[in-house]
Amino acid sequence: MLPFSYTISMSTYIAPSILAADFGNLERDCKMVNDSQADWFHIDIMDGVFVPNISFGMPVLKAIGETATKPLDVHLMIVDPDRYISTFSTLNAAVLTVHYEACTHLHRTIQNIKQHQMLAGVALNPHTPVALLESIIKDLDLVCLMSVNPGFGGQSFIEETYAKVVALKKMITEQGASTKIEIDGGVTDQNAAQLVACGADILVAGSFVFKAKDPLGTIANLKKITA
Ligand code: DX5
Ligand code: ZN
Repeated sequence: MLPFSYTISMSTYIAPSILAADFGNLERDCKMVNDSQADWFHIDIMDGVFVPNISFGMPVLKAIGETATKPLDVHLMIVDPDRYISTFSTLNAAVLTVHYEACTHLHRTIQNIKQHQMLAGVALNPHTPVALLESIIKDLDLVCLMSVNPGFGGQSFIEETYAKVVALKKMITEQGASTKIEIDGGVTDQNAAQLVACGADILVAGSFVFKAKDPLGTIANLKKITA
């Protein structure tokens, strides 16, 4: 779907998490994201092993991709993600993010994602220090800092995340890397501006968008307060 030269622009991106959509009305909710000011679709794939929950898999991602007109930002919460890199490429993922905690040979996995013409991301669980990425940061298009424990939507934002964003931004700047910082979990209008002030580039928002009375207005407001 996207050329390999695809790059993330300078403005703050909002990525609604489809996990919080109404799966009985998935096409309607995808069209809402198309019509909104959102930048990406955030897609959470959970295997019931890496995280204590199972979300959805390839057939559902295929259906989302048939309606979505914006890039698919796929967040793999699965063990041994190398098994499926080629499949997610075929399903038009623009960004493929794997968990640091799920990859024994992270460097090899990242190169594999890039060879499949996707942007490569690494997600860190709340307890995983950003310093562990020092030797690979220059190879990463994106780091996803989990601001909740992965597995479920609708959890409360972990405040320690702000300090992790600052530390990660410092590492990126010091190494001259172009890596973008994504925040995932518990994002609302109460923490969005501060996250961007700390250095965040992409905010994932699930429940806050889809459970709102006015999802379109909620996305517009998130864009406004992070501009
Ligand atoms: C959690 C997922 C998140 C989740 C965010 O494991 O990775 O993307 O959907 O949902 P909210 O915004 O409701 O915390
Ligand atoms: Zn996610």
